[in-house]
Amino acid sequence: MCGIVGVVGHNNSKEVLLKGLEKLEYRGYDSAGILLSDGEETIAIKTPGRVNDLRELSTDAMNGTIGIGHTRWATHGEPNVENAHPHLSKSGRFGLVHNGVIENYLELKEKYVPSELLIGDTDSEILVEVIDYFSRTGLSTLDALSQALSEVRGSYAIALIDVEELNKLYLGKNKSPLLIGLGENCHFVGSDAMAMIHETNEFVEIMDGEVIMLTSDMMVIYDKDAQVIERGSFIAEIDATDTEKGLYPHYMLKEIDEQPSVMRKLITEYTLPNGNTTINNEIISHISQSDRIYIVGCGTSWHAGLVGKTLIEKLTHIPVEVHLASEMGYDMPILSKKPFFIFLTQSGETADSRQVLVKVNELNLPSLTITNVKGSTLSREATYTLLLHAGPEIAVASTKAYTSQIAVMAYLAKAVGMIKGDEAAKEFDIVREMGIAASAMDALVSEKDYIATLSESFLSDTRNAFFIGRGLDFAVSLEAALKLKEISYIQAEGFAAGELKHGTIALIEEGTPVIAVITDENTASHTRGNAIEVTSRGAKVLTIAGENVSRSEDAVILPVVHSLLTPLASVIPLQLLAYYASLQRGLDVDKPRNLAKSVTVE
Ligand code: G6P
Repeated sequence: MCGIVGVVGHNNSKEVLLKGLEKLEYRGYDSAGILLSDGEETIAIKTPGRVNDLRELSTDAMNGTIGIGHTRWATHGEPNVENAHPHLSKSGRFGLVHNGVIENYLELKEKYVPSELLIGDTDSEILVEVIDYFSRTGLSTLDALSQALSEVRGSYAIALIDVEELNKLYLGKNKSPLLIGLGENCHFVGSDAMAMIHETNEFVEIMDGEVIMLTSDMMVIYDKDAQVIERGSFIAEIDATDTEKGLYPHYMLKEIDEQPSVMRKLITEYTLPNGNTTINNEIISHISQSDRIYIVGCGTSWHAGLVGKTLIEKLTHIPVEVHLASEMGYDMPILSKKPFFIFLTQSGETADSRQVLVKVNELNLPSLTITNVKGSTLSREATYTLLLHAGPEIAVASTKAYTSQIAVMAYLAKAVGMIKGDEAAKEFDIVREMGIAASAMDALVSEKDYIATLSESFLSDTRNAFFIGRGLDFAVSLEAALKLKEISYIQAEGFAAGELKHGTIALIEEGTPVIAVITDENTASHTRGNAIEVTSRGAKVLTIAGENVSRSEDAVILPVVHSLLTPLASVIPLQLLAYYASLQRGLDVDKPRNLAKSVTVE
């Protein structure tokens, strides 16, 4: 979702902006723009298309030392040139890029902005006019910005240029991500580290409510009370090559392939030489003393949470509830006496999840964020953080974050179960089992050509598909259906295998594809029974089965992994199936329509 990049003091600011925007493309967007100045002339170019279109629109002569850029995922108003950022105030004095939603934009418009000043439909355009308004009352740019932001309700990350001070960038942030990058005699700003990683790996965080003034060699941070504060920098663990796709045709394929090595990395990150876990004792004892765990997430992370529930309940015997953040934010369930919250979020920035965390913090309850992004908002605001160590995930369709979330929850469950003296936890040799799972994943990712043929024969001309399974296989079926629909646009549903007959079986027609996931010895025969029910009604059934429960007719046989870790293996062919279905339909695998990688609005 919307991405911001900015630079001050760099001789090749145009390239910094364009490259930064390319790195932000993965977040999802439908228009883009840059504003650039060499200190004298200021030029803005915008397009309702791709960053590459901006490249083509920009001339070689165009360059500068300061600039801001933006990729916009439309919320207020359609994706056209007028609504694309940067927005210039009608007076021509201020240029603004904004990420977030200004909830009281109509109120602000009424108070400060005559309609004739506006050409588009966005809340952001109103904000730049409000800043201009306060500046015209005689305030300095910094004060005009602070005054405008003090009247804003909602979320924002902004970068502002004042054409009368072309050596300064002004920034503001509330609830939307924004990070400062430190360069040599220059400063950068971006929605995330990836927007700047080709220039620097040293960053400074910005907290909600702060306003910042950046020049090439100065960074002044003002807190909520307009006091200047000092803040140290940190070094990001990613390097620029992590964000390249190398020889892969798509990030998604690269990320699917990376999963076995991510599992091995997690074994190293989470295991001490004596075999104990590296997870902080405070986290373990806090969770072990809780009487109920609430897992919160969205999309794929929510699906990983469903697997986490089984892992945690089986290894710790603490009851677990899994909640969709977008529902929980407005309808908090009756909580237990000693609740503990786990937020699952690849990006650490998802607004729906964050709004639940804000409520949890208001209630003074303990929380843990499991995320791929160190220093992300949900990581900073939760009591504790555990990292996924998956490396940047660029494809919109999440793959390695899903499996690494499951793996980290397995480590957590094992650690908490051990401290509680749980027999199941003692018996669960996690290093061994994770090693076995990683090898199984290795074997499965090497089946690409075969899965491509399965996709061709099974999904090529269908408009819908069903995935069925029981227990963990049901959880994986939900994730498989989401993968398929988000990138191939085939209408897909995941079902508890036994539930199909209670209504949805009415949709089965001659040739409807049904994919059955079968890994559990206790339920295998039942799911096979459900598969027969749909076959009798004309469905084409494809089974993905564990070796221990396999039959000769199964399309994919999964190497045996521990019964609690089967999703790590079973999801791989399903991810690949979705990938090839999208590819064979000629779609944009990494950037599916309407979707954003990091959803920073509710
Ligand atoms: C978006 C992405 C999904 C992702 C979800 C949650 O909708 O397209 O792939 O699962 O957000 O994101 P998070 O970063 O919180 O895991």
